[in-house]
Amino acid sequence: MTARASIIASLPIPPDLRDRIEALFDYVAPDRHLRTDEVIALADLHQPDGLLVSLGMPIRAEHIARLPGSVKVIATTSVGHDHIDIAAANARGIVVCNTPDVLTDATADTHMLLLLGAARRAKAHIRNMDGAWKTRNGFFQGLGVDVTGKTMGIVGMGRIGRAVADRARGFRMPILYHNRTRLSADLEGDARYFEALEEMLPHCQVLSLNLPGGQGVLMTRERFALLPKGAIFVNSARGSLVDEDALLEALTSGRVGAAGLDVFQREPGYDTRLNDAENTFLLPHIGSATVETRTAMLELAVGGIEAVLSGNTPHNVVRV
Ligand code: DGY
Repeated sequence: MTARASIIASLPIPPDLRDRIEALFDYVAPDRHLRTDEVIALADLHQPDGLLVSLGMPIRAEHIARLPGSVKVIATTSVGHDHIDIAAANARGIVVCNTPDVLTDATADTHMLLLLGAARRAKAHIRNMDGAWKTRNGFFQGLGVDVTGKTMGIVGMGRIGRAVADRARGFRMPILYHNRTRLSADLEGDARYFEALEEMLPHCQVLSLNLPGGQGVLMTRERFALLPKGAIFVNSARGSLVDEDALLEALTSGRVGAAGLDVFQREPGYDTRLNDAENTFLLPHIGSATVETRTAMLELAVGGIEAVLSGNTPHNVVRV
């Protein structure tokens, strides 16, 4: 790496972490999340070697084309990279890094929070507490459904899917999974593989989405219809994988008994009909939002920039 490489960040960073970045790079740091156009304008001005960006900043081919030639690396503080056109970046000689592994546990924990929150009707109970809990629920009022022992079907058995499976086993949940490729026996364990998603869906009392986005809508009206009546649907992966109109219909008909969602087609400014539905439990894309995990994500992203600018290939380079 040259003595003082420079980077531009699109996101505000806490002072203690900023000091660590400043020890490595000349650094342009904003006090709020910047839009893509703002980052491009700053890049024009400062001619940085790298960009440190986050999930909320789309970097499409037209944005890549407008970046100055000085930019050699873009690191995103997310494992998901569907907001970046990797092929377009690589075609301009720009390496892209992400943050695999370090957010697996936090995201799987959030996934279980969504499952439990949806199954136990947590939203209604939280509203009751917000309203000072004026009347006691009747014995048969406000009931959820058990999670323990229900069969969970996982779509996407990568790191996060497997971490969700580990947690679900603690709830004595039989695990089914659908994945592009079958896992090796040691990773698969007692989970049952389905090559065809359509064949797995009718067995899923809980359906769990844990696959990367950027591959179009997976959960269509037709696929929701294949679930057993009352299935619980949990998505902490990407909102783009779900036809939200179809999900709303399934929530209304009872085909889906409850849904726990951390991700939405539009973020922020999601379709609030999903919150109007009584049988949902929603969070604002906080899958990885713990102090430990976000710190580790930032460090991994910054480490990726440092390694690339030093002429190395770190393990967190995204490959197409
Ligand atoms: C990611 O890193 O892609 C997650 O969605 C962030 O929570």
